[in-house]
Parts: sequence; C-alpha cells; structure tokens
Amino acid sequence: MESKKKITCSLLTAVSVAVIGSLQYGYNIGVINAPEEILQSFINETWIERTGAPISQNLLTSLWSLSVAIFSVGGMIGSFSVGLFVNRFGRRNSMLLVNILAILGGTLMGFAKMARAVEMLIIGRFVIGLFCGLCTGFVPMYISEVSPTALRGAFGTMNQLGVVVGILVAQIFGLDVVMGTVTLWPLLLGFTVVPAIVQCAVLPFCPESPRFLLINKMEEEKAQAVLRKLHGVQDVSGDIQEMKEESAKMSQEKKVTIAELFRSPNYRQPIIIAIALQLSQQFSGINAVFYYSTGIFKDAGVEKPVYATIAAGVVNVIFTVVSLFLVERAGRRTLHLIGLGGMAVCGVIMTIALVLKDSVSWIGYISIIGTLAFVALFEIGPGPIPWFIVSELFSQGPRPAAVAVAGCSNWTSNFLVAMLFPYAVQVFKAYVFLIFVGFLVLFFVFTFFKVPETKGRTFEDISSGFERRTEDGISPATVEKNSMVELTHIQPTKDNGANI
Ligand SMILES: *[C@@H]1O[C@H](CO)[C@@H](O)[C@H](O)[C@H]1NC(C)=O
Repeated sequence: MESKKKITCSLLTAVSVAVIGSLQYGYNIGVINAPEEILQSFINETWIERTGAPISQNLLTSLWSLSVAIFSVGGMIGSFSVGLFVNRFGRRNSMLLVNILAILGGTLMGFAKMARAVEMLIIGRFVIGLFCGLCTGFVPMYISEVSPTALRGAFGTMNQLGVVVGILVAQIFGLDVVMGTVTLWPLLLGFTVVPAIVQCAVLPFCPESPRFLLINKMEEEKAQAVLRKLHGVQDVSGDIQEMKEESAKMSQEKKVTIAELFRSPNYRQPIIIAIALQLSQQFSGINAVFYYSTGIFKDAGVEKPVYATIAAGVVNVIFTVVSLFLVERAGRRTLHLIGLGGMAVCGVIMTIALVLKDSVSWIGYISIIGTLAFVALFEIGPGPIPWFIVSELFSQGPRPAAVAVAGCSNWTSNFLVAMLFPYAVQVFKAYVFLIFVGFLVLFFVFTFFKVPETKGRTFEDISSGFERRTEDGISPATVEKNSMVELTHIQPTKDNGANI
C-alpha cells in the first residue's frame, strides 16, 4: 500500500493551514502569562483615570482573573457550537468563517489600551475563547477527513503539537525584549489577527473535506476529485466505499442524547470516568502554570522568571512529542497513573521551594526543576489520556454526546482554575500548590480503582467489564486480568457485551 502513504503538496497544504487553528488556541492560552504585571497596572491606571482613586487589591484580582478566565467561558460555548457549523457550512468554510471572531477579538484586545477600556480586553478575551473553542472542534475533524487512513494518526497528532507550539510562541513573544512591554502589549494580544488573515488567504485554495462532500452533500464526483488530488492516486473507490460503509454503520447505531448518557446504566459508569479524567486534567493545576507561571517563578525568587516560563514551554513541546510515541505503546491507565502520581510529587517539591525561598539561596532552581518536571509529567499522562479514553470508552452512537460532555467538563474546570487560582494564592500563599496535590492524589486513587485499561480492547469487551464489575463487585484490576486472559488464550466470550 505504498501509494496510500503518499504525501501530496495539496494534502500538506491543507493540514498545515488547518493547524494554524491549533496554533491560535495555544497562543491565546499562553499569551496572557508573561504580561501579567503590565496588564494589572493597565487595569489599575484606567481605574484611576475613571474614578480618581487607585483600585483595591480585591477588585484588581477580580478583573484580572476575569480577563484570563473568561476565555474558557467562550471556549465552552464555542466547543458546544461546533455541530451547528460543520454540517451546514462544511468543514473548510466553517474554519474560514470563524476567523471573523479571531479578527474581532484580536482587534478588541489590541485597541483596549488606546481606548483606555478594560472592558474591551475582557470582551476580546471572550470572543477569542469562542473562536478557540470552535477551532478545537474543526481542526481535528478536518485533518482526519482529508488524510488517508494510513496517515490519519500521524497527522492527527499535528493538532496537539500545534497547540503546544502555539503556547511556546506566545511565551517567546511575551518576553520584554520582544512584545512584553508597557507599550507593545497591545500588539502581543492583537497578534492573533495575523495568523487569522494568513489562514483566510490560503484556506480558499484548500479543498473541502471529501467526507462532507460525499456524506452531507451527496456530491460523489466532487468528493472523488478532491480525494484524487489530496491522495495523489487515480483510484479512490476504496476510500469512497470506506466512507459510505462507515456512514451507513453510523446511521444504524442509534444516536444517544446527553440525557440518555446519564440515565442508561450502560453508559453511566463510562461517562463518570470520562468526566473525572477531564477534571483530573484541569485540577492537576497545569493551567495555573500556563496562565500564571511567571508570577509563580517570581515569588520563588527566580531572577528572570520569564525565561523559566519559556523553559516550561520548551519542555511542554518536547514531552508532547515523547507522549506521541508512548501512547502507541504503553497502556492509557498506566500513563495516567504515572502522570498524576509524578505531578503530585512535583507539587510537593514546588511547595517546599516556595516555603524555603528566603532561607536557601539556590532554591529558585529547585522550583524551576519541579515545575518543568510537573509539565513533562502532565504531557505524559493527564494531557493526552483523557481525550483518548473518551473515544475509546464510547462507540459511534454515544460518542458525540460523550465528547460534548467531556469538552464541557474540561472548559468548566479550566474556567474554575483560571478564575480561582489568583484568590487561592492570596489566601494560601506558598502553600497554594498543595490544593492541586490534594486533587492529584484524589484522582490517582480514583484512576487506580475505577478506570479500566482501554488500549487494544473492543467496546464490547470494555463495556462487559463494566457490567461484570457492577454485578459481582470485583475490582477493575481483576477485570483487566480476566480480559487479558480472554484476549490472549481463549476466544473472548461476548455473553455480556451484546447490549452495547
Ligand atoms: C495602583 O496604582 C497606584 C498608583 O500608581 C498605586 O499606588 C497602587 O498601589 C496600585 N494599586 C494596586 C492594587 O496595585
């Protein structure tokens, strides 16, 4: 099947242009980190101009965390609206269309200083969040639909890489020698307009998703032409056939609503696991690091905190690549446990470093090492695994509803962490990361006792594991061992798996 692996220019262009959306998402997560102090004094100054008095510390913290966190509210609404766009306008045109939001949001943030309006900063962050929430739905869908089956996995990872590279770019742009200054921060926040314009310029030359053309529009000839161009082969009947079969299979399997997901005993346990794993990702405290690490390093007595933040970005990219290889080989449950456990240990180390910073001079380095290891371990487990598990626990019918619920839990907890962390710092001071350590231990225990291994197992097998456990009250470890035996030595007995 050599021909199936051909990477044509058309395919490469389509994937690269789509990945701009992932870069945008990462950029807007990372961009708010470095200019924290500058933005806070901007909020303070505009307050003084309007009221004549300096802002109170409490109100400043509120407005600042709102500016950071409202991004997630937009993201949640955006991720819920993906379905409204993709089947109506098509995948490519949806990506094209929502760039209006990127341009609007970027402009609002970029001119907030000139207009002396904190409102514009906050609304701009909300609009950009909306845009990013939509992107997180569009980009993986478009990439997987234009890629040939043999390359789908490899190109799918480009999305994840795009996000972490976007975070890193934002951190570098946020340096005070680049755009992280009192005069240039509007450019830093408004920069998101540039990739949006680039994407608008090139996307019209990229093809619409062949799957959308074939299944939604019933335009088989167009779909064939697009496939020939993308895959660089003349005979595309195999791909067409595959899409038709997959779509027939999907329409056979009854679509499950979100309410049914919680009501049906078949889905209740998997959906609780899916939600818990999303919560474990966000309550691990990773975004406390990505939104606020410069401030954390400064508190730990690091002299050039921004460079430590950039080091965290580099480690993040490296370990995202490492995890791409790991998830193919190791079990999901194992990786998640290693990640959570390791992050808990790092959280303790970071806390000790913060507590001792005045008594030991070199402790700043320990704080940096702890934080870098924290980020690395995140990318090994709690970063990628929750998303893998959702699609592996649910078959085609309930999957869209499950993904929507998982996405909503993810953005909600993201919002809570972003919003509450600055207050938590004020109350708990150096001990703030112990809160995350508490969550990490809690989710470690949950994963250990409740989450089954999903790698290399069928949906029937996994769901029968849940049923057996509910009936007999046996632990997932036993279930796991049983299924291993079933898979390797005897034909799997599907007696319990019939009703998925
Ligand atoms: C706000 O700015 C004023 C004047 O520069 C300063 O005295 C005050 O401490 C600032 N308030 C906060 C909460 O940072």
